[in-house]
Amino acid sequence: MRKVVAITGASSGIGAEFARRLAPDHDLLLIARREDKLLELAAKLTEQYNCEVETMVADLSSDAGIAAVAEKLKTHPRLTILINNAGFGARGRFWESPLEVQDQMHMLHVMATVRLTHAALQNLVAQDSGAIINVASVAAFIRSQGAVSYGATKTWMTTFTEGLYLDLKGAGSRVRVQALCPGFTYTGFHDAMGADRPNLAGSRFWMTAEQVVDASLNGLLLNKVFVIPGWRYRLITALLPKLPSALRLQMETVLGRRREAQILQQQAEAKQLAR
Ligand SMILES: NC(=O)c1ccc[n+]([C@@H]2O[C@H](COP(=O)([O-])OP(=O)(O)OC[C@H]3O[C@@H](n4cnc5c(N)ncnc54)[C@H](OP(=O)(O)O)[C@@H]3O)[C@@H](O)[C@H]2O)c1
Repeated sequence: MRKVVAITGASSGIGAEFARRLAPDHDLLLIARREDKLLELAAKLTEQYNCEVETMVADLSSDAGIAAVAEKLKTHPRLTILINNAGFGARGRFWESPLEVQDQMHMLHVMATVRLTHAALQNLVAQDSGAIINVASVAAFIRSQGAVSYGATKTWMTTFTEGLYLDLKGAGSRVRVQALCPGFTYTGFHDAMGADRPNLAGSRFWMTAEQVVDASLNGLLLNKVFVIPGWRYRLITALLPKLPSALRLQMETVLGRRREAQILQQQAEAKQLAR
């Protein structure tokens, strides 16, 4: 009987790619808010791979949405992997951006990850098999102006994953955990933020969702706790934490100012065009 992989944020981007990659060998539980996208993907995968796909519409920034999914994970008889992938970005100085957005981000990246992982582990630890993949970000290693909550919550995800690793190892469990830390990836993520891709990074820094998911699944086979797709990002994340924090923060301040100037210029050009 096929095992089931549960993927949050499966309606687009990296989550949808995980679903496509895992469908040939697994049944799927796909979770997100956009039902039309989930049903479209489920229909394609069922037809192509003859797998069983269940969809669940849930807002994972709400207590009710998280509780409904957690209940399902706790008792699912064939659960083998939970991928905590749902997430979003937001730009703007912390105190100038709506508190509601900061709250939603913490609920989604932190509380949903806590509660869904807790529920899934009730199930997986008892089976002594399976895995949890937490989709964090390279932003876990780099402080970035205008993205305070994003960096903080993604750093939390990596620390949480390492803690889980230690607890599972200590208990002699065979359940695996992974913090997947992608850099800039072509998905709907930056469109949702209204960000202009070329202004964020040069083309060599952009990866595809396929490359990110490949790296994650290869890493899972090798039992890697941290998976950072792309050698450029592996180099940056290896070097940055080694710098004295005062120097690192100075560099990040300069980069932040440069990016802010680019955004202001872009907004001015857009206004000029609109006239
Ligand atoms: N793209 C990048 O450059 C990049 C880099 C590093 C890390 N990441 C991380 O990768 C993960 C996936 O993002 P992506 O790049 O694939 O972006 P994406 O295409 O925008 O996908 C985000 C997914 O999260 C879901 N989601 C957002 N808010 C949700 C909520 N409140 N409840 C339930 N689901 C919600 C969205 O579905 P609905 O809108 O249908 O709910 C969507 O399926 C995120 O955690 C992101 O932080 C992305």
